[in-house]
Amino acid sequence: MKKLIIIGSILLLISCSSQLYIPIEATLTVSLEDLKTGREIYVKKCSSCHQLHLPNQYTEKAWSLNLAKMQDRAKITDAEKQLIYQYITNASKK
Ligand code: HEC
Repeated sequence: MKKLIIIGSILLLISCSSQLYIPIEATLTVSLEDLKTGREIYVKKCSSCHQLHLPNQYTEKAWSLNLAKMQDRAKITDAEKQLIYQYITNASKK
């Protein structure tokens, strides 16, 4: 039984992060590299306490507030927060 729960959680985790948009092109203001890094940091730093929230789950303004609230918890720098924000707001338009 325990094994099943563990396998279930792993599958859930995989399906959640693969649902996350993978950037394929730069925007006018953000490079493709930065968008990819933003996704990487988001997956790495924001999934330890709860499941990842999908980008289109919140408005840009709400994401800005959410990220400010989560910055200490996730122990990310201002620059990392900005990268995540750029990735998320770009992905939510996809
Ligand atoms: C140390 C644990 C921890 C980490 C790391 C963490 N969170 Fe959270 N997060 C929480 C908790 C606890 C809540 C729910 C309670 C609350 O809002 O304080 C939450 C809630 C949220 C919510 C819902 C907010 C709402 O008002 O409904 C979002 C969105 C979110 N986190 C995004 C993130 C992002 C983005 C990151 C990475 C930068 C992150 N979290 C990292 C603990 C964490």
